[in-house]
Amino acid sequence: MIRFVNVGKTYLNGTKALKDVTFDIEDGEFVFIVGPSGAGKSTIIKLITAQEKPESGSVYVDKFNVGKIPDRKVPYLRRSVGVVFQDFRLIQNKTVYENVAFVMRAVGEPPRFIKKRVRYVLELVGIKHKADNMPSQLSGGEQQRVAIARALVNNPGTIVADEPTGNLDPARSLEIMALLNEINKRGTTVIVVTHEVGIVNRFRKRVLAIENGVIVQDGEGGYYESEEGRK
Ligand SMILES: Nc1ncnc2c1ncn2[C@@H]1O[C@H](COP(=O)(O)OP(=O)(O)OP(=O)(O)O)[C@@H](O)[C@H]1O
Ligand SMILES: [Mg+2]
Repeated sequence: MIRFVNVGKTYLNGTKALKDVTFDIEDGEFVFIVGPSGAGKSTIIKLITAQEKPESGSVYVDKFNVGKIPDRKVPYLRRSVGVVFQDFRLIQNKTVYENVAFVMRAVGEPPRFIKKRVRYVLELVGIKHKADNMPSQLSGGEQQRVAIARALVNNPGTIVADEPTGNLDPARSLEIMALLNEINKRGTTVIVVTHEVGIVNRFRKRVLAIENGVIVQDGEGGYYESEEGRK
């Protein structure tokens, strides 16, 4: 479970990115995080992955307290949270298969299990037939499927995706959201930052809306940017 309690975050240059942010995400939930550019969405993601620490308040990710976690324990936290980015971030000189397999090797899984598990997740995301291709030989949507497979392969409880469809056309975006929804139905908690109001309104999930570092809406239903948010 993910819990933000009165979280404030100010960056070194004085930018107040989050102000008194409080919310809980239970295991198994699907949550969209929406809001204007600069609202603080990616900052929330960076706190969940312990890339940043809160300035005030507390962030809990499963049994970890992000503000107090010692550096040596950060890798364990990161094993429980798979991350997907807008720009895919695949390793260009490794095949699709290797891009996914190497994160299992990194945590010392046995070779036979790696082979089986990588095949399974590539099949799950619909990209098994391209296992031997290089990332540059894939479309954007296909590359994002590989990135999702990589995020999933060590079986994290949660997947966080920061604008995973930002580089994709509308049809591809919908397919990637449908895939994340399918992954959620299989039991993984899914948190998706997106600008795509059309998709958000279509999926009817919990929506956390943030503007200027403040949560302005938390609930199921549509999202309309407020006047304040558009300024
Ligand atoms: N490392 C940093 N140092 C200083 N300021 C930062 C840093 N990262 C983000 N900010 C600032 O904090 C605020 C929130 O940034 P954040 O990246 O969380 O916004 P966002 O909602 O993800 O926006 P976008 O939709 O454009 O990705 C912005 O004003 C941004 O300029
Ligand atoms: Mg962002």
